[in-house]
Amino acid sequence: TWTTGSIVEEQVAAIRERVGTKRAICGLSGGVDSAVAAALVNKAIGDRLTCVYVDHGLMRKGETEQVEKDFVAATGARLKVVDASERFLDALAGVTDPEEKRKIIGREFIRVFEQAQAEIVAEADHAGEDVAFLVQGTLYPDVVESGGGTGTANIKSHHNVGGLPEDLEFQLIEPLRKLFKDEVRMVGQELGLPEEIVQRQPFPGPGLGIRIVGEVTRDRLELLREADAIAREELTAAGLDRDIWQCPVVLLADVRSVGVQGDGRTYGHPVVLRPVSSEDAMTADWSRLPYEVLARISTRITNEVRDVNRVVLDVTSKPPGTIEWE
Ligand code: XMP
Repeated sequence: TWTTGSIVEEQVAAIRERVGTKRAICGLSGGVDSAVAAALVNKAIGDRLTCVYVDHGLMRKGETEQVEKDFVAATGARLKVVDASERFLDALAGVTDPEEKRKIIGREFIRVFEQAQAEIVAEADHAGEDVAFLVQGTLYPDVVESGGGTGTANIKSHHNVGGLPEDLEFQLIEPLRKLFKDEVRMVGQELGLPEEIVQRQPFPGPGLGIRIVGEVTRDRLELLREADAIAREELTAAGLDRDIWQCPVVLLADVRSVGVQGDGRTYGHPVVLRPVSSEDAMTADWSRLPYEVLARISTRITNEVRDVNRVVLDVTSKPPGTIEWE
């Protein structure tokens, strides 16, 4: 019979057998799939796996630490972190077009990842070892979709950070290929990954880069990170994480609005709350969040985040509105 434990055992044995005495690399995106795939392969081959995490500087508050500390603590995996935030910000300077942002982030991501990959291969080579495998967190729905499914509703270019271009240098290990998302979460739990990683809601590969309407700058990222952290904290405290699919918080960086805060008039930025419920992100409805929760989020954001003086709620379903604003 089908149990999560038996899936883990079966995969671990198969991976161990296949990798033999060679080595593998796995990119971590901060998301569930790559974390579970890496944890599984790590269980099979231990430190013959090297995980790579590219910090593009566009993650939310605490997410990079979650990979660096919590993932490593839970798995004991060998991890190489590349801090590339400066490089991403430079590449994004002056860019406001959403698709342009996605292309730049995707391109830079691949370059940085490939460089890290080359370093790992060179080090292994030096030690007489052979890096022959690349681990990917491909799920069953991804397999179906790329096998000529319809997928026509996807009108944004999706650079999923976990999904790198096919690399002929390596053979792929895709231990989650037969699983659906809820099964992947169960496997993650079985492997002892922390709840915050296993139950993580979807978050776009380009990160906060596509949640700042306008140019992405360090200051704006800082504002958005604070506002987003408050919204997430309050949603979690209200026990709403399982009820909503995700709740993007969007900084309207090119819009200013007048407010009164403290002693005087301010001219700051609005942030948008975009809570949605959905089954698969192809369609979505705006979540009817309790007024008290909305009120707490609004009060806290305007009190605690410098330069944000207004919180607005997005009440658009998908279609016509996409989940993300960009
Ligand atoms: P939209 O905005 O198209 O989003 O309704 C649907 C789902 O996809 C996520 N999303 C992305 N994920 N790279 C990703 O990996 C992207 O460029 C991207 N854009 C949107 C979004 O968060 C939602 O879950």
